[in-house]
Amino acid sequence: MRYVEISGARISVIGLGTWQFGSREWGYGPEYANKTAIELVHRALELGINLIDTAEFYGFGKSESVIGNAITGLRDQVYIATKLFPVFPTRSMVLARAKASATRLHVDSVDLYQLHWPNPVMPITETAMGLKRVLDDGVAKSAGVSNFSLRQWRSAEIALGRPIISNQVHFSLLTRGPEVELLPFAQANNRLIIAYSPLEQGVLSGKYSSVNRPKGMRAARKFFFPANLDRMRPLLAKLAQIAKSHDASSSQIALAWLISKTNVAAIPGAASLSQLESNAASADIELTRNEIETLDEMSSQFEPVSPSGLLTDVKTLVRRR
Ligand SMILES: NC(=O)c1ccc[n+]([C@@H]2O[C@H](COP(=O)([O-])OP(=O)(O)OC[C@H]3O[C@@H](n4cnc5c(N)ncnc54)[C@H](OP(=O)(O)O)[C@@H]3O)[C@@H](O)[C@H]2O)c1
Repeated sequence: MRYVEISGARISVIGLGTWQFGSREWGYGPEYANKTAIELVHRALELGINLIDTAEFYGFGKSESVIGNAITGLRDQVYIATKLFPVFPTRSMVLARAKASATRLHVDSVDLYQLHWPNPVMPITETAMGLKRVLDDGVAKSAGVSNFSLRQWRSAEIALGRPIISNQVHFSLLTRGPEVELLPFAQANNRLIIAYSPLEQGVLSGKYSSVNRPKGMRAARKFFFPANLDRMRPLLAKLAQIAKSHDASSSQIALAWLISKTNVAAIPGAASLSQLESNAASADIELTRNEIETLDEMSSQFEPVSPSGLLTDVKTLVRRR
């Protein structure tokens, strides 16, 4: 495993995303939440992964509770990042909810407390007062944000009066917006970009296609629409080709592409131990400059269909039934 040092903390460049733990929308069932999830946490730590990302929102606290049970006696091996869901984030509410998260996680202090989304109504100055109390009272060691633009990130830092060490954002070979402003800011200021959905929820593994799509929540997502799965075939083929030359999988190359960038950690979720092991091993893959540029180029050529195109897709799907 490789690590990145941010504000005195040593954080693995591959983490474990845990939205899947106890969340119905993934459809993994009770055996996954009650057994597999705990095994995933233990195996992650064995493999040198210390960044475990969760949120009070995931399974309405269930994900945090599962992790809390799994890390009993292992606290010093884990860098725990959780998130505040931004419903009414007043100063007193922020502190109370951070304490509730720490209780479910069975820790005195979480390592990174993140604002999950900006709140469009509540002034950031109010929420930042709560965040300040969370840090001053030792309920969290550092503050982070998620889904914040650069402007919002900087405003939050000014309001807090101290560094907000990370921004967790959607970032992958298919979603490259963070490269424009957020990543350069992080690299210039010793901050961390935490890349979520780094495999585009399984799309970049190459196992899905327009005739083999996942059921449930994911089927409604843009990149799982048949038209888009068809359009990205050249990119998926290139990923598979590069993977073959490294004796690796497409998922591993998609992750290696992300963490080839400095100040980036990726937090793939995993449905099984073998997926977790594969994801962890991507930290050992070194892509050549030429491979990175080829992937950059291929991903720039992929143009997902517009909402109206997606509507045509929906009609086609309905007609096929
Ligand atoms: N801050 C935010 O707003 C936000 C939003 C979304 C996610 N997140 C965080 O980011 C984490 C990761 O994002 P995500 O779960 O949305 O997407 P992801 O990590 O891109 O995809 C995870 C899914 O991909 C498949 N997969 C994983 N490893 C694989 C492998 N080696 N080979 C083949 N398939 C593999 C599995 O699904 P199947 O096997 O079922 O296909 C798995 O559940 C979440 O768990 C959460 O912690 C944060």
